[in-house]
Amino acid sequence: MAGVREVSESLREWERIAAHSHITGLGLEGLKAKPVGGGMVGQIEAREAAGLVVRLIKSGKFAGRAVLLAGPPGTGKTAIATAIARELGRDVPFVPLAASEIFSTDIKKTEFLMQTLRKAIGARIHEVRKIYEGEVKEISIEKAPHPYNPYQQVPAGATIKIATTEESKRLTMDQSFAIQLIQQGIETGDIVQIDPEGGRIVKLGRSRRSVEEKKVDLSTVQVIDVPNGNVLKEKEFVYPVTLHALDIAATRRGGDIFSIFFGGRESKEIEPETRREVDEYIKTLVQEGRCELLPGVVFIDECSMLDIETFAFLNRALEQDLAPIIIFATNRGFAMVRGTDMRSPHGMPLDLLDRLLIINTKPYSRDEIRKILEIRSEAEKIPISNEAIEYLTEIGLKTSLRYAVQLMAPAFELAKEKKASRIEKDHVSYVEKLFVDVKKSVEYLREYEKQFLDL
Ligand SMILES: Nc1ncnc2c1ncn2[C@@H]1O[C@H](COP(=O)(O)OP(=O)(O)O)[C@@H](O)[C@H]1O
Ligand SMILES: [Mg+2]
Repeated sequence: MAGVREVSESLREWERIAAHSHITGLGLEGLKAKPVGGGMVGQIEAREAAGLVVRLIKSGKFAGRAVLLAGPPGTGKTAIATAIARELGRDVPFVPLAASEIFSTDIKKTEFLMQTLRKAIGARIHEVRKIYEGEVKEISIEKAPHPYNPYQQVPAGATIKIATTEESKRLTMDQSFAIQLIQQGIETGDIVQIDPEGGRIVKLGRSRRSVEEKKVDLSTVQVIDVPNGNVLKEKEFVYPVTLHALDIAATRRGGDIFSIFFGGRESKEIEPETRREVDEYIKTLVQEGRCELLPGVVFIDECSMLDIETFAFLNRALEQDLAPIIIFATNRGFAMVRGTDMRSPHGMPLDLLDRLLIINTKPYSRDEIRKILEIRSEAEKIPISNEAIEYLTEIGLKTSLRYAVQLMAPAFELAKEKKASRIEKDHVSYVEKLFVDVKKSVEYLREYEKQFLDL
C-alpha cells in the first residue's frame, strides 16, 4: 500500500548512532582518561567529568539533576553522550532525543515529554511465582475433532508427568497448554517450567541423563541437570521494565501490570490517573522490597531549540520524586530563550541553569583530528592513503571535524567506483566539491539572497 510513512523510531536511532559507531565507551582507567581509549581521543577533562557523572548515575546519586555539554560544533558533545550511554550498560535506560523531535510529534508536546521522561526511569520488579519444574517423564496429548471440521483432530488437553530428583507429579492441562507443548516440540527428557497462573510453558533444555541415553547432537541443545526439591516450587523472577512500559500496559489492560511482554509502540496519550496508579503501585513494591528503581538518562541534543514552555516543564519534572537525569548539549553561547524576549547563557532559563553541571568541550588540535579520522577509518573498515587522511585533517581544521568525518563515506564510494583499493586525496577533493560544509552553504545562500534583492 502506498502512502506517507514516518521515519520509524529505529531508523532515527540508527541515523543517530551511525556517526559515532567507532565509540565504545569513555576510555577511562578508573576515573582517569586514557589519551586514546574506547574510540575516543583527547577531550580529556570532558571525558573525566563524564566518567564521574556515570559513577553517580550508576550508584543512584544523581537523579533529578542535569548536565550541560557546551562547546563549539564538532567538538564531540554527541560523541561523549553516546559514550556515556555505552558506559551505563543495558540496565540503565538511555533515551536520546533531538530537540526538534519535540515539535514534530503528533501528540501534545507535554505528553511527548512526559513519555520520554518515563521511558528513562527503569524499574526491576521481583516477582515470586509458583511454578512446576522438572524433567518430562511421560507426555500424552488428547485430541478431539475440530468443532467445525470433524475430520480434523485438534489438541484438546494434555497429561504430563514431570519429575525432580526427589519426586514426580502428574499434571492435567487444558487446550492452551497442549498447543504450547506441540508448538515447542516438548518430549520426554526435556526440562520444562510451567507457570499455571501465567498460562505458559517454557522449555529450558534437555536433561543430562536423557542426552547421554539418546546420544543427541550436543551442539543444538542446552544440557541441564534435573532440578532437585519439589516439583511445585516458588521461584523469583526479575522483570526489567520502564515506567512508560508500565503506563502502556496499564492503559491497555486496565490494570494488569504484569502482562507487558507484548511489544508494539503506541503514540496515544496516557491518562494522568493511569500514571498515578502506576506510581502508587511501584512505590508499594519498592516499600515491600520487591522492586528497585533505576533512574536513567534523557539526552537532549541541540537544546537551544527548546522553548520556554519545554524548559519549565523539564525543570518541574526534575523536582519530582521519580525523575531521570537530563543531559543537554548545545553549541550556543549567549542566546535568546525561545518563546521569550530574554537573552541568557546558552539560551536556557536561569532557574534551570542554576541546577546544571556544565561540561565544556574544546576544539581539537591537528593531531587529535587526525587520530579521530584514523580511528573512524579503522572502525568503518575504510582504507585510506596517508596523503588523503592528511588532506581530510586539513579540512577538519578549516571547517569542522564533523564535516571531515562525514566526507569519508562518499569518498570511499567514489574510490570503489574508480576501482581503487583505498581513498586517495583526489577522491576527497572531489566529494569536497559536491558536499559543502555548513559555513559555505550559509555563505552561498546569503550571496544568493543579495542577488535576489538587487533585482
Ligand atoms: N574525542 C573524540 N574522539 C573520537 N571521535 C570523536 C571525538 N569527538 C568527536 N568525535 C567524532 O567526530 C564527529 C563530530 O563530533 P560530534 O560529537 O558530532 O560533535 P558535536 O556534537 O559537538 O557537534 C562525530 O563523528 C564524533 O563521533
Ligand atoms: Mg552534536
